[in-house]
Amino acid sequence: MAGKDLKDLLIHQLKDTYYAENAILKALPKLAEAAKADELKGAFGLHVPETQKHVEHLKQVFKLVGERAEGTEFPAIEGIISEGEEAMQEFGGSSALAAALIGSAQAVEHYEIVRYGTMLAWAKQLGLGEVEALLNETLVEEENTDEILSELAEDSINAQAA
Ligand SMILES: [Fe+2]
Repeated sequence: MAGKDLKDLLIHQLKDTYYAENAILKALPKLAEAAKADELKGAFGLHVPETQKHVEHLKQVFKLVGERAEGTEFPAIEGIISEGEEAMQEFGGSSALAAALIGSAQAVEHYEIVRYGTMLAWAKQLGLGEVEALLNETLVEEENTDEILSELAEDSINAQAA
């Protein structure tokens, strides 16, 4: 459509991401329940309040850009989450379950990292400083979670799975 600009693009992606964060919030307890290893359970459990915070950040961002907070249903995140659920079923009870859960969770994190990174650049371009700060705070937490999961996998979980 003619006349659409970077701000419209940002709002579009905010709606996708809002939908994604809420979908992740629903999926996380299932991951935590499936995880047998305590550290992994802990990592997933820790990310629940963080994800709630990410949803709150997005609500604040919507307010700052003068839009109602709403999600647009979109298949990408559903696909990543259902891939994780499939892995949970296929590897349930096996020594590779924890590694499978980490792999799925990192696919979600990387997806979020890409989204927040892009939105951050757009907010910066648009001179939306407060928006930029909120998105950056979330991005840092997503990166941190991703790193924790990598360390868990490399320090113990992958060896246990092998
Ligand atoms: Fe998040």
